[in-house]
Amino acid sequence: MNKYYITTPIYYPSANPHIGHTYCTVNTDALARYKRMTGHEVFFLTGTDEHGQKIERYAEKAGVAPQEYADEITAGFKKLWELMNISNDGFIRTTDRRHMECVQKVFDKLYEQGDIYKSEYEGHYCTQCEAFWTETQLKEAGGVCPDCGRKTELAKEEAYFLRIKKYAPRLIEYIRENPDFIQPVSRANEMLGNFLLPGCEDLCVTRSTFKWGVPVPFDDRHVIYVWIDALVNYLSAIGYLSDDDSLYRKFWPADVHIVGKEIIRFHTIIWPIMLMALGLPLPKKIYGHGWLLFDGEKMSKSKGNVVDPFVLVERYGVDAVRYFLLSEFPFGNDGNFDNATLITRINSDLANDLGNLLSRTVAMIGKYFGGRIPANTAPVPEEDEPVVSTAKALFERMDRAMDDIHPHIALQEIWKLVGVCNKYIDVTAPWVLAKDETKKARLGTVLYNLAEALRVIAIAIQPFMPNTSPKMFDQLGVKDDALKSCDSMKEFGLIPAGTEVTKGEAIFPRIDAKAEMEFLGSMIEEQRKKAAAMKAAEEGTPAPAEEKKDEKPLITYDDFAKLDLRVAKVIECTEVKKSNHLYNLTVELGDEKRTVLSGIRDWVKPEELIGKNVVIVYNLAPRKMCGIESKGMILCASTPGDADVVPLTTMKEIGSGNLIR
Ligand code: ME8
Repeated sequence: MNKYYITTPIYYPSANPHIGHTYCTVNTDALARYKRMTGHEVFFLTGTDEHGQKIERYAEKAGVAPQEYADEITAGFKKLWELMNISNDGFIRTTDRRHMECVQKVFDKLYEQGDIYKSEYEGHYCTQCEAFWTETQLKEAGGVCPDCGRKTELAKEEAYFLRIKKYAPRLIEYIRENPDFIQPVSRANEMLGNFLLPGCEDLCVTRSTFKWGVPVPFDDRHVIYVWIDALVNYLSAIGYLSDDDSLYRKFWPADVHIVGKEIIRFHTIIWPIMLMALGLPLPKKIYGHGWLLFDGEKMSKSKGNVVDPFVLVERYGVDAVRYFLLSEFPFGNDGNFDNATLITRINSDLANDLGNLLSRTVAMIGKYFGGRIPANTAPVPEEDEPVVSTAKALFERMDRAMDDIHPHIALQEIWKLVGVCNKYIDVTAPWVLAKDETKKARLGTVLYNLAEALRVIAIAIQPFMPNTSPKMFDQLGVKDDALKSCDSMKEFGLIPAGTEVTKGEAIFPRIDAKAEMEFLGSMIEEQRKKAAAMKAAEEGTPAPAEEKKDEKPLITYDDFAKLDLRVAKVIECTEVKKSNHLYNLTVELGDEKRTVLSGIRDWVKPEELIGKNVVIVYNLAPRKMCGIESKGMILCASTPGDADVVPLTTMKEIGSGNLIR
């Protein structure tokens, strides 16, 4: 069996994960799932990069120890990967003992053989990026950190250095001889042209100005600078230099490291040189993907333009969010995240094109053939051919796209088949065939072909939308595993006539575009305000003036009287598992008890709510969130940007159920 080792970057647990991290991990997951589906033995690794001055400072600000800080945020990453259905085989934390021991052994070995040596470093250091920059690099970037644009600090210290210069010529040759090593190819040219050919300096690999790191084994005044520590994760996670190195022996070298374009330099210069020095084979490929931008800017917590994946999943479901991230942005390029496109893609590609195709096919088989897939006895080749040939060609096309690390192209290929099927329905007009008893056999063939094409689609989407695929098989009545395998995609006509279909719920319900646009727009707006207020607080400057909100139009008393507001007593309050923000509250209104969901978890603790009177909108239309129906809404006062949110209560005890007028 072919092995396949694929990795994501290990993320900094400095702040909660956002949609950019999710983008990288979901794409890597689709690649890993695809390789498993095509018979590879896969090891898929992700993790967190927990050391360094940045985390140390964040923790200090939060008033906790760095480990405690990293533990909490790492737990959030793990929770997100679970929610997103990420199939990672390993999760490495750079604070794991196994990792720290491996880093020390690697450092020792390189020092012993003279590839790491002690000297003195003077340079411009960016705390945010944990990177030293040369005068030239700084000048080119206009005096600020070339990666993040922040001010750097001048730093001088005794330090250990990795011999980059010694290995650079060998690396240049390697990159030239292995055009697949750095992908997309433009990034290889950039690495050669901008960094390697002009000449690289040896790299400072330790720091002595902070403590939060792996100590140099023989000199504990120094900690190992983050890049050596971080990069070794790809080896430590599979047991390199440990008592049990069986995974290492099976899986190294990695088949591909998937990384964002800003860290490709570290992966294509420092990492291969470390491996050359260690005498190890190099990873087969480093793929640098583009950034998700928001309104043309890189997402960042400090700008507040981050999209919270938990919120998106809560509203649209995991597979819709996965689909959007996988299909909308060509993986090697930057892409602009915009709310309107997200909503359009969910409604048009998923609800209309795929969802309706399945529900119409199953409904017609139900209506015209008593719910059993009819036999294919009346082909009309010129009509059927596009469906048959597109379905048969799908596997090969998808395979090529996935080999090229282009999940978005694989999805385009799948959607070509979806489109061909929808067109087939238009051309053959089954509802017209159904009116003519002599055309029953032809109608049967059309529906057979649609069901078979849907079987092929259900297989093809498995790596991308793992929850949807089984739902499709269920509705199509496909139970046999052989008919769900990717081998069976290559043949058309395998679904047995007579298979019983089952009408199920819509796999992707349509969403209310206008309401969702408003929701997403105001969420980002609030985040931006919050971020601006926090930045001002950090810098000690006055908070930016709140834009004067458009006043709402006057309403009549009759408008107001439509609201049924009531006093409710909170009886129970628990966290909604699938959500980061919601509470599930049981409230009492006189004799009645109700479930109300409320997104106030960031501001209020359950014990502060239980037993209290709150005010609810009693006649708000019920709404389902995370599978739970919420009946009513709790009213709260909030400060600008939702810095604080406080539920309303009554001045004195009045009894639940009473009206508010
Ligand atoms: O760099 N769009 O960690 P990190 C797309 N610890 N991808 C994004 C993104 C965005 N807006 N924002 C982040 C580190 N990413 C180091 C890595 S590896 C040995 C050490 C993704 O938390 C992208 O893959 O800053 C990027 O490379 C990674 O998150 C950086 O995560």
